[in-house]
Amino acid sequence: MKIAVVGSGYVGLCSAAGFASLGHDVVCVDMDKDKVDKINRGEPPMYEEGLSELLSETLKNKKICASAGMESIKSADFIFITVGTPSKPDGNLDLGYVQKASEDVGNFLKIRGYCTIVVKSTVLPGTAENSIIPTVERISGKKAGKDFGVCSNPEFFREGKALEDFFKPDRIIIGQYDDKSGDMLAKLYSSFQCPLKRTDLKTAELIKYASNAFLAMKISFINEIGNICKNLGIDVYEVAEGMGLDRRIGGRFLQAGIGFGGSCFGKDVSALLHKSQELNSRSQILEAVLSVNSKQPTRIVLLLKEKMDIRNKAIALLGLSFKEDTDDVRDAPSIAIISELLKHGCTINCYDPRAAENMRKIFPSLNYGSSALEALNSADACLILTGWKEFNNLSDKDFSVMKGKVIIEGRKILDRNKVSNYEGICW
Ligand code: UGA
Repeated sequence: MKIAVVGSGYVGLCSAAGFASLGHDVVCVDMDKDKVDKINRGEPPMYEEGLSELLSETLKNKKICASAGMESIKSADFIFITVGTPSKPDGNLDLGYVQKASEDVGNFLKIRGYCTIVVKSTVLPGTAENSIIPTVERISGKKAGKDFGVCSNPEFFREGKALEDFFKPDRIIIGQYDDKSGDMLAKLYSSFQCPLKRTDLKTAELIKYASNAFLAMKISFINEIGNICKNLGIDVYEVAEGMGLDRRIGGRFLQAGIGFGGSCFGKDVSALLHKSQELNSRSQILEAVLSVNSKQPTRIVLLLKEKMDIRNKAIALLGLSFKEDTDDVRDAPSIAIISELLKHGCTINCYDPRAAENMRKIFPSLNYGSSALEALNSADACLILTGWKEFNNLSDKDFSVMKGKVIIEGRKILDRNKVSNYEGICW
């Protein structure tokens, strides 16, 4: 099949490389010329496990290429829309990129026969029907369901594991406007070994939001239980393990810590909350999910303050990215923690295996070390903010270069057998 993917962020590029490796001919379309050049040189614009290798392999096999021009979509059987949908300050979605992509696609549909538009960007229920389809129809002069097909095909990729999630998804959701496009998309996914659920467009759009909101709720829930555990001297990870053995609950996404970050959970829960308000049925659960999460990062600073006077102290921060295996710092809990420490006049010596460059754009004047040891050197205290695997190897010997003794984990990663004296935010 010929596939055009409009928007080369995580979702777009990982889907593109994934489909190309399965033998399809894929063109990544992006208006950012710099990104396009990088992709064509085999350099992913962001770090994602395995992506660099997969991109090189598919470029070599001439199964993928990138272009800044929309002409490349002329011959595509599928046009995937994977552009970003950032949050507006009021929590609503900014559909500017989706609108632009719909207009561009509409322009090219004028001069071609039937193809299927697949919306993979995360958009609120009703967006494909009330915004994307009318735009494409107006610009192209063609009719959805007759001259072109439309599907909603939400993605469930975790950053850092996006390719694993592409190749081995738990499920594939296809929301369809017309049977023909739904059938074609189901055929594209026919080699995937997982349940495939077909719905209408707006149901598929809501499945994405409800899934992310539920996962975010699990995290805020276990963080609240964790906060109770901390006061009672109980390890929340033992509690979560005990709970997770019940198959109705499941053990995943019950890792307590400094809260969720990243470009998805906060944005999606806010957008769904905004939608519920618009419908006059304001969701109290979603409000609580966000409220718990907004307070969770700085609890680690409160805990630190219980142990020492932090004014003007040197604090080592290990990990900056919102989660391990990514260089992404969007909405990372570390940002709130750094801001709080700076208010107290702390000097921050930080280290992250991948995210320093991105964090430097937000906080240019922190001391960015090139190793955990460099950050730890002479620090009065250490906070661990990302669960990078390499922190699991740290031992008492490494921490002995610190001036002070306080070590607090915001993500559970240290090994009790190697480090004798530390505590967790909720354990
Ligand atoms: C999330 C969803 O997991 C994906 O299914 C979805 O496709 C994606 O959003 C999206 O909408 O694009 P992502 O944000 O990349 O993926 O990463 P997660 O692994 O879900 O982690 C999100 C945040 O929650 C991270 O800060 C992580 O450290 C935190 N988290 C995760 C916890 O605090 N506890 C957990 O048990 C799990």
